Amino acid sequence: MEKRSVGGVDLAFVDRGRGPVLLLVHGFPLDHSMWAAQIEDLSQLCRVIAVDLRGFGQSGPCAGTLTTEQMADDLAALLDALAIARPITLAGLSMGGYVAMAFCREYAARLRALVLCDTRAGCDSPEAAQNRRETAQRILAEGPRVLLEGMIPKLFAPATLRDKPQLVTMVEQMILRADPPAMAAALLGMAERPDSTPLLSQIRCPVLVLVGEHDAISPPAEMRVMAEAIPAGQLVEIPEAGHLCPMEQPEAAGAVLKRFLAALTEPRP
Ligand code: MLT
Repeated sequence: MEKRSVGGVDLAFVDRGRGPVLLLVHGFPLDHSMWAAQIEDLSQLCRVIAVDLRGFGQSGPCAGTLTTEQMADDLAALLDALAIARPITLAGLSMGGYVAMAFCREYAARLRALVLCDTRAGCDSPEAAQNRRETAQRILAEGPRVLLEGMIPKLFAPATLRDKPQLVTMVEQMILRADPPAMAAALLGMAERPDSTPLLSQIRCPVLVLVGEHDAISPPAEMRVMAEAIPAGQLVEIPEAGHLCPMEQPEAAGAVLKRFLAALTEPRP
């Protein structure tokens, strides 16, 4: 992986392929490797940059509170460090989607298109925010394992849990490798993220809203409402997938992403 120092931290990223930039942002508490299939597949047609957010994967450490705005600022600073001035396509899954929406609020002119994958526009309810704060304390005291029991069944479709034990184990290992202070910081940041619902009608670029049929965290019905609120939004539901649809159904998700990316390079009518 390459690294660039931005905003006082070393950000690690994979940079593969040539052409228009597709920046991939992982969910909580994962890292860039959740996009392995897309890095392989999509770097045939564009330049794919898959980043480890501050505190995650091989990026430098973080503690305290890590807001979605800070993570969006890191992405903009990384693009600057790589001298990428042309508008990019930004794809974020779940927490990565919150970051993509924060990026859109601050840096709309840097966006050619957005992919909002298994994510939600609304902020946390007071109860959900409190729950995150308690989970952050537990992770700091007991480590990442406290997440596993409650989180794993919610991340995958029933078919994935049944038929793809290796994928489930891989994600478990990724969670167990995550750094407790960074996990806690991201939870505290997500708890205070703003409501992005008012942003949706203001988004001017094409937006692909991608969701797994069985996503229990950001369900298709909620993502449909999100897609309908975006002027150039289109929803695609991936069958037999849950919250991690690009990992669970990489071929189906890859085909949808390829179609979306190809349409962006067609001349505008
Ligand atoms: C994620 O997958 O990034 C998380 O489910 C986001 C969240 O906890 O809201």
